Amino acid sequence: MKKSQIAFCALLALCAAGRVHSAPADVEARVEATLARLTFDEKLGQLWQFSGGQPSEAASSDRSKGTLDPKFLEAVSAGRYGSVIGKRGLENYNAIQRAAMDGIGIPLLIGHDMIHSATTTYPIPLALACAWDESLWERTASAIAVETLALGCNWTFTPMLDVALDARWGRIAEGGGCEPLVTGLMGAAMVRGFQGADMSDGFHIAACAKHYVTYGASFGGRDYNAVEMADSTLRDVYLPPFKMAVDAGVATVMPAFHSYNGVPCSMNSYLLRDILRKELGFDGMTISDWSAVRELLNHGVAGNKADAAVLALNAGIDMEMVSDCYVTTLKAAVDSGRVSMKTIDDAVRNVLRVKYRLGLFDRPTLDAAALANAIDPAANRALARECARKSCVLLKNDDGALPLKKGVKVALLGDLAANEWQMLGCWSTRDLSNFANATLLAGLKADGVDVNYVEAYTLTGRVDLAAVEAAACGADIVVAAFGDYWENSGEGNSSAILELKGDQMKVAEKVKSLGKPLVAVVFGGRPMAFPDLAKTADAILMAWNPGGCGGWGLADVLTGLAEPWGRLTVDMPYATGTCPLYYSRTTTGRPAAITANHPFGHRYTSCYNDAPFVALYPFGYGLMYTTVEYSGEKAVVEGDSVAFSADVTNTGAREANELVQVYVRDEVARIARPRRELKGFKRVALRPGETKRVEIKVPVASLGYTVDGRYAVEPGGFSAWIAPDSDSGRNLHFEISAK
Ligand code: GLC
Repeated sequence: MKKSQIAFCALLALCAAGRVHSAPADVEARVEATLARLTFDEKLGQLWQFSGGQPSEAASSDRSKGTLDPKFLEAVSAGRYGSVIGKRGLENYNAIQRAAMDGIGIPLLIGHDMIHSATTTYPIPLALACAWDESLWERTASAIAVETLALGCNWTFTPMLDVALDARWGRIAEGGGCEPLVTGLMGAAMVRGFQGADMSDGFHIAACAKHYVTYGASFGGRDYNAVEMADSTLRDVYLPPFKMAVDAGVATVMPAFHSYNGVPCSMNSYLLRDILRKELGFDGMTISDWSAVRELLNHGVAGNKADAAVLALNAGIDMEMVSDCYVTTLKAAVDSGRVSMKTIDDAVRNVLRVKYRLGLFDRPTLDAAALANAIDPAANRALARECARKSCVLLKNDDGALPLKKGVKVALLGDLAANEWQMLGCWSTRDLSNFANATLLAGLKADGVDVNYVEAYTLTGRVDLAAVEAAACGADIVVAAFGDYWENSGEGNSSAILELKGDQMKVAEKVKSLGKPLVAVVFGGRPMAFPDLAKTADAILMAWNPGGCGGWGLADVLTGLAEPWGRLTVDMPYATGTCPLYYSRTTTGRPAAITANHPFGHRYTSCYNDAPFVALYPFGYGLMYTTVEYSGEKAVVEGDSVAFSADVTNTGAREANELVQVYVRDEVARIARPRRELKGFKRVALRPGETKRVEIKVPVASLGYTVDGRYAVEPGGFSAWIAPDSDSGRNLHFEISAK
């Protein structure tokens, strides 16, 4: 049974049984021995991640070649920092660790946001999620880990496991989308990739599950904003991906900036101790987000830095990122009894435990030659190209506009089509070596396309319609870049307008007025609202931010060298006003439906009067260059699992890589349940005309929900769909009988 078939809770149970921590066996004894010899100030030093100490500006543009300030190294040697943030290059990494080992004898965690790139840049996480491919996710994280070490870091602040239902939230770009199962599987795969089977082997790094927890539910999709929600929603939607990461052995966890039911995550002992430590069994270390401890003053829950330090440490934050509340106030807090010495010691234990598990004491410095031998830049670029192929999603393809036919003359338009920088996305490390020539123009040329590039317009600025016309008239088909700049997504980029900016639609309408086929390639770090483009273009490829080989991977799909593979892990809205928009909505007491007579839904049902309440393109959706049919769908309860099966036939003339999805609904429950929830999926390859019987087993244990703090599967009737996306499929029924 493939891992991705295993449904949620059963997988959680399995992971817990096989938690990955193949660290040196004597970790606890060594932690205690180290703790015992530390002074109070040295203990406090372990609880601080310092952001200074960057290399001086070097002669070259690469700061990692710069030299470190001797005063910084003296402080390292004295044990003033348990960690520093930022990449400084391998040589400087070794200088820092030597200073630490020559002095206090405790190496540092050196962390950085190697989210989807180190020297090679892969597609943004939201794009990678659309590959629905655990092996790809793990391989990508593993490749990033080695490059991260070569850049002088041993810790990355990812995977981001925030389930995101609201496209207005810019950080939707950084995670797996709106579905806990996909987000959790991707997160666990990335933890395995970053940390490996043995985190101390010198080729892996510590990962960090963030932002714990419910950050994606910030009111209004506005970054850092408050979250209010029922405990059952926390437990059934937002917590599961973190449980999967903990069960995969994630070394560290980072709480989120926001308040959860009034209590900021940075001081929320219910979340950090009761759930994370006691229920999930997490035994790594926690680190605050950037100055989030100091921000407790802004939340209005701490009157000064001393209060903030006491609240955060007592709630369970081991290390403080950047702000200095801990190191400047905790001595007085211990003297006054506001914080116990045991609390301090336990936090230091957690930090030391990660350092021992990471093998830092046994291998404080990095072996440049061994790392260089372990990095194959060409293989990493090939992997980045494979990721770009599998991350893009074909949303429309009328009249076989795609794949581009051999010998066809293509007019390529738009600034994004020739801008490699715009392929990278938020949180890319943007090292020049990795994305030169990554454009769609370069990719189409490399794939032998007769392409004439004319910029003609920018996304938000001028549109030269005469140039659009001239280029289009000289070609058989137009490929045009639409969407948004990556700088408008990611952290601190909540948007109240998801519709296409500027005069992009004028370009599309001009091309269509000339009777030319239009292929729209949409770039950006979030779902956007483009219903007009969906009507006007003949084909639409959702490209996201495809990374340092993005243009090449996209061109492979556009030319048919690669079949379209991606499926959406978010819902694409008709309008900003319909957000948050997610397939797993409840039906309400007045279920709405789109009909010919009611294109937005009947007035007295749960809908809008000016836009469809459903997705323009739903979760799970994505086209191929062939078609498939489902038949003989069955749901059969077999002991502790339900076997879902169907015949899937490739009814077209090209290879199919169909993603068969299983959705379930509890028909009558104690609380309103989603209209559909993903419970499993399986990719199946089909030659033209081939039929395969596909079976996906879902443990009964995954069909429950939480109410009054207790998770249970209730006997009764269930609906199910075996389908290519979250909106289609025939309705099946099965019964779960009382035990
Ligand atoms: C940022 C982000 C967090 C990141 C950290 C370090 O503010 O919230 O995701 O890992 O600071 O850069």
